[in-house]
Amino acid sequence: AQVDCAEFIKSSVKTEECPSDGLPEFALVGRSNVGKSSLLNSLVRRKRLALTSKKPGKTQCINHFKINNNWYLVDLPGYGYAAAPQELRTDWDKFTKDYFLNRPNLVSVFLLIDASIPAKTIDLEYASWLGRNQIPMTLVFTKCDKRKKKKHGGRRPEENIQNFQELIREFFQTAPPWIMTSSITNQGRDEILLHMSQLRNY
Ligand code: GTP
Ligand code: MG
Repeated sequence: AQVDCAEFIKSSVKTEECPSDGLPEFALVGRSNVGKSSLLNSLVRRKRLALTSKKPGKTQCINHFKINNNWYLVDLPGYGYAAAPQELRTDWDKFTKDYFLNRPNLVSVFLLIDASIPAKTIDLEYASWLGRNQIPMTLVFTKCDKRKKKKHGGRRPEENIQNFQELIREFFQTAPPWIMTSSITNQGRDEILLHMSQLRNY
């Protein structure tokens, strides 16, 4: 399940503008700055195919990347805090949710959660929305390379991850699959690609 070629296809701000060839796709969503674009680059082993930034709010469109000429990875704008006006962020939220609800070839949404910090309300709300709307979902915990020292009040990624899963249990009939990742060490890269190839073959 390796990536041999990856190419940027297009940016869209409406579901109807997205590629119409019907190939299976996986979308990366999560809070601004959680590491969606970085994860995409890690998966395709390229440094700057998807643009990343320290400043939240970098990705502003639905960006389609064609993989091995037969499926797509889709990078999305983040929700939550972002260095962009509220009006623009409301727009992003509308078109991403419309895309989730009206895209038959969307195989699974990958919801990215920062494992280096305790659960955020906005992430719980997002998971709840996906669960309520029965959108197929995989949980991806990012930044697992970051380890806060206990004496500074930080919790280990493993604790944050377990806690998050307990908090979202009520939103799902069956617990969503989950994967630990780091775009620095490339932890989880093979696991995600394998999981995606299994989902495509159902
Ligand atoms: P938006 O497009 O603004 O919604 O953000 P994004 O979710 O695409 O995040 P992006 O990939 O641009 O990364 C945001 C910041 O987090 C950058 O400074 C990255 O270098 C950093 N980052 C991303 N992934 C990781 C990771 O796995 N570990 C660490 N330590 N830092 C990461
Ligand atoms: Mg981004």
